[in-house]
Amino acid sequence: MPIPATIEVLTSETFAILEGSHVIQLTGQIRQQASQMGMSLLDQTKLSTAASELARNILVHGGEGKAQLECIRSNSKIGIRLLFSDRGPGIANVEQAMQPGFSTGIGMGLGLSGAKQLADEFHLTSVVGEGTTVTILKWVND
Ligand SMILES: Nc1ncnc2c1ncn2[C@@H]1O[C@H](COP(=O)(O)OP(=O)(O)OP(=O)(O)O)[C@@H](O)[C@H]1O
Ligand SMILES: [Mg+2]
Repeated sequence: MPIPATIEVLTSETFAILEGSHVIQLTGQIRQQASQMGMSLLDQTKLSTAASELARNILVHGGEGKAQLECIRSNSKIGIRLLFSDRGPGIANVEQAMQPGFSTGIGMGLGLSGAKQLADEFHLTSVVGEGTTVTILKWVND
């Protein structure tokens, strides 16, 4: 069995997600950080698009929450990890929520599935009545 790589957190910053303007501020910070780390423009766009969807989900479905922006290192790789969390209603059926086109609202239902495709890693945990946490990760020059 391969030894699981350990992730070292180099920097961490937390952003409250309470209104639409916070989503714009967050994606701007992500782009700036990613650019400083040497991430390609394409990957910056993928990461900030995924982040925008997940932050919007906090506002639309969770009410309010927070996003954490981390610069990480694992062996010789560096990257950005983003954690989105809320204490909203949670997701009863995660498998269904992950299906492209599934929405309990008026959206297209492409936010979660799109974010998963755009990131290098995607983890979602949700407990009904407690809230939802989504973590995505993108490596630089992977
Ligand atoms: N943070 C969250 N809290 C509670 N439910 C959520 C959360 N994020 C997603 N969901 C549930 O998962 C479903 C799918 O989410 P997804 O982002 O894919 O689509 P959407 O938000 O409905 O539409 P779109 O993102 O395309 O505008 C949502 O309709 C909602 O039921
Ligand atoms: Mg959405």
